[in-house]
Amino acid sequence: MEQQKKRILTGDRTTGRLHLGHYVGSLRSRVELQDEYETFILLADVQALTTHFEHPELINSSIIDVTIDNLSVGLDPEKVTFVQQSQVPSIAELTIFYSMIINVNQLMHNPTIKTEARNYGYSDLTYGFLGYPVSQTADITFCNADLVPVGEDQVPHIELARKIVRKFNALYGTDITEPDYKLSTVGRLSGLDGNAKMGKSMGNAIYLSDSPETVWKMVRSAVTDPARITATTPGTPEICNVYKYHQVFNPEEAPMIGQLCREGRIGCMACKKRLNEVLNDLLEPFRERRAYYEAHLDEVKELIAEGTRKANRIGNENLARIKEKMHILI
Ligand code: TRP
Repeated sequence: MEQQKKRILTGDRTTGRLHLGHYVGSLRSRVELQDEYETFILLADVQALTTHFEHPELINSSIIDVTIDNLSVGLDPEKVTFVQQSQVPSIAELTIFYSMIINVNQLMHNPTIKTEARNYGYSDLTYGFLGYPVSQTADITFCNADLVPVGEDQVPHIELARKIVRKFNALYGTDITEPDYKLSTVGRLSGLDGNAKMGKSMGNAIYLSDSPETVWKMVRSAVTDPARITATTPGTPEICNVYKYHQVFNPEEAPMIGQLCREGRIGCMACKKRLNEVLNDLLEPFRERRAYYEAHLDEVKELIAEGTRKANRIGNENLARIKEKMHILI
């Protein structure tokens, strides 16, 4: 089978539903790039175990949830390939081979690993968690992906992947593709509560599957400029969480809203109401697609099974070539 388009591989840990942070960080660019690239979406249920090994049921049910989240934002099931990581043994085998040539210090100094490990508690750092960038390198390279659209926290992992691939190719004469990354235009989506990051564990996430009522509840309780006592007090939009969201989700109106706030001509409640409308306009088509897939779960499951079969064909073929070069032969 001739490969014409360049490949994208990107993925999500299956540890729960996806939220607006995932959307601006990665999902939106997946949709934009799906015509230009042959796209693989990895349902990373093995990587999910690195932090959620005590919750295997959650990981399993999230496989469907995360797939539906991806479909709901407009990924076309005719175009993209969904892959269940745990069902692709070539990824696991490649992980082992890569683990031989990566220095432990490089993993220990990876800034994302350091931050995440701090959040989970250093003393509990497992071998599998420390090594997840190595397995992520196998995720990306089993199909020789050219490009990985990611949020900024994943950049150190892609740089590590490039190093591993270069070293591996030099050692064994393989021709594994060195992946590039494409950074999302929005850095990191902060929480409406003022937290630096929107996250499941922070309780500040607006999920792609949230109802209009839930979205309004989150927006209504957002922390704005604390110095604004009344609607006519001049505000400082730069320190306001709601304004930050206008910049991300309502870029055309944001400058005007910022100006009105500075002049004390728009109150926080009006500003929140407008943001609520903008977010619901974005989410409404997602809800419609979601409703379809939730009513057709067998279709979703078959999509994953079929995509995973395709991934196995590609992965097994590549792995066989790699093993031959490594002199791993019978
Ligand atoms: N680590 C990624 C995240 O937490 C998920 C992921 C797993 C991934 N495998 C990948 C992303 C391969 C890009 C490519 O979001």
